[in-house]
Amino acid sequence: MTNETSHFTSFGALRGVLRPPADKSISHRAAMIAAMGEGETEIVGYLDAADTRSTLAAVQAVGARLVRDELATDAVGEGDGLGAPSLRIAGVGLRGARSAAIDVGNAGTLLRLLPGWLAGQPGGTWTLDGDESIRKRPVDRVATPLGLMGARLRAREERLPPLEVEGAPLHGITYELPVASAQVKSCVLLAALAADGATTVGEPERSRDHTERMLLRAGVNIHRNGRHVTVVNADELILDRVRVPGDPSSAAFLVAAGVLVPGSRLLLRDVGVNWTRTGFLRIVRRMRGIVLGDLEDESGELAADEPVSDLDVAHGALEATVVEAEEVPLAIDELPLVALLGCYAEGETIVRGAQELRVKEIDRIAGVVEGLSGLGADIEATDDGFVVRGTGGLRGGSIDARGDHRMAMMGAVAGLASREGVEVLGMEASAVSYPGFVEDLEKLCA
Ligand code: S3P
Repeated sequence: MTNETSHFTSFGALRGVLRPPADKSISHRAAMIAAMGEGETEIVGYLDAADTRSTLAAVQAVGARLVRDELATDAVGEGDGLGAPSLRIAGVGLRGARSAAIDVGNAGTLLRLLPGWLAGQPGGTWTLDGDESIRKRPVDRVATPLGLMGARLRAREERLPPLEVEGAPLHGITYELPVASAQVKSCVLLAALAADGATTVGEPERSRDHTERMLLRAGVNIHRNGRHVTVVNADELILDRVRVPGDPSSAAFLVAAGVLVPGSRLLLRDVGVNWTRTGFLRIVRRMRGIVLGDLEDESGELAADEPVSDLDVAHGALEATVVEAEEVPLAIDELPLVALLGCYAEGETIVRGAQELRVKEIDRIAGVVEGLSGLGADIEATDDGFVVRGTGGLRGGSIDARGDHRMAMMGAVAGLASREGVEVLGMEASAVSYPGFVEDLEKLCA
């Protein structure tokens, strides 16, 4: 990894039309569930980024075949993918994964979801390991419920990667998640497919439900009742075709730039607006930023589809807000941007109940607070979040991404909105989820 320093400064209003890259969460799931499936699955618009390349390599390592690899080709305008290439994966079936050593790179979602599938396949052994940041990310949160199902897992110091999985017969459980985590919930749901009986997972707050939707599409008997999801074991999965919408978490950086820089007007096309992913957009609206679009409403029923909308974004004079625990999982990856918006808002913006930020790619509470303080923000860390006082904007300066893609992109957006510009150290980290990010900003600033 290089240490690329990039400078971002005010270019005036951002204008234009853009489709953000494909959804990372949905891409990971599509590749894994396609690999678990029977026959071929077409994935239209798979995200071509470092994290999701790790997932393609992982499913190939366990025996799935990439039938048509068009990731490297420029397929702009083809099919209905709005510029996104598609690929086909030939699955190995629910119980057909072969033993392998798997490099998950920087991908936490791959690290947490894949063991759920592997754990229920007696006769196989797998090791999951990754980069320096992955080696600090807890896996006991998945090892504990999988262990209750009968799985055999071994982690370094009982909580960190490398993680060894030895396939074993599993049985269904009822498990209440101690923290709202879509990764842990998804891991248990995948394990449940090969377990005896039914499995129920409860979460303290609703978290993203892409796994549930995709399993429903793949023919699995799965239901939601409030904050509980029940899944019955399955003989086979048939996904056939999945289309991946634009990633609302990647779009969030463009939304923040459009809302912060006076005179801006952006049209973001084909953005995923699943209710469990649009917490940030609702927070922005509450802060009086202008984001028009047809966001999905909260619903009791589990839907199989992933709704999309165009988002029309414009600058607005912002007001402070408070984000409570219940809203945190719905905006978890965008909370650094709430801190940035808070710097420009009238009043005190508070985020509570977000201690999970401390175990992301980096400790994002410390990273955001130290990073924005260095740019002139009036911000303090708390145990479970932060408090930002709006001071009419940021001076600018220099920020270290610390290898975290979302820190790098937050720094870039801060630069566009700042008085003196921002130098981002380690901008290349953005390729983990949004490889064309700097080029996209340039297009919108031109
Ligand atoms: C993700 C879930 C979230 C999120 C991560 C992606 C997923 O993590 O922060 O970027 O795809 O399920 P947790 O489930 O650990 O909160």
